[in-house]
Amino acid sequence: MILRGAEASELAAVLELWQRAAENDSRPPDTPAAIESLLARDPDALILAIDNGEIVGTVIAGWDGWRCHLYRLAVAPHRRRAGIGGRLIAAAEDRFRRLGATRADAMVLDANDDAHGAWAAHGYQRQDNWSRWVKPLR
Ligand SMILES: CC(C)(COP(=O)(O)OP(=O)(O)OC[C@H]1O[C@@H](n2cnc3c(N)ncnc32)[C@H](O)[C@@H]1OP(=O)(O)O)[C@@H](O)C(=O)NCCC(=O)NCCS
Repeated sequence: MILRGAEASELAAVLELWQRAAENDSRPPDTPAAIESLLARDPDALILAIDNGEIVGTVIAGWDGWRCHLYRLAVAPHRRRAGIGGRLIAAAEDRFRRLGATRADAMVLDANDDAHGAWAAHGYQRQDNWSRWVKPLR
């Protein structure tokens, strides 16, 4: 298995994986244009785990120059509990360190118990004294 940045030709396959593997509640819809926009701004942000030509996992390691944030951590259902999520998180953290970031964070749904276990196993702790405040722009 290799981990590498996504290429433009792979966006449809990434969207298909997210449909069946990602946390999809309470968020803006994913579109090809949205990923193209991400890669135009930061070509290395979307990291894929590829095994035998199949995309088996993803994470977006987003860095805005001030803070970093993890999005779209997802592993194909038939490949879970084999360390792929951990490798993706480690790759994202390596990227953040190279860019000079000092802390990684991720938004996680309160009801997503599977994700809680995975984040905790990789050293992340829930921060109970903060809440996210949001406003739709469209
Ligand atoms: C969360 C997710 C990415 C984890 O990927 P993964 O490849 O299975 O994770 P890993 O194999 O690296 O897991 C490492 C450790 O995390 C913990 N963990 C992972 N999945 C877990 C689960 N469902 N329940 C409890 N602990 C879990 C375990 O400690 C595990 O070690 P173990 O398998 O030796 O017990 C995967 O379950 C997934 O894609 N879920 C749906 C999408 C999602 O919710 N993404 C997170 C959005 S915030």
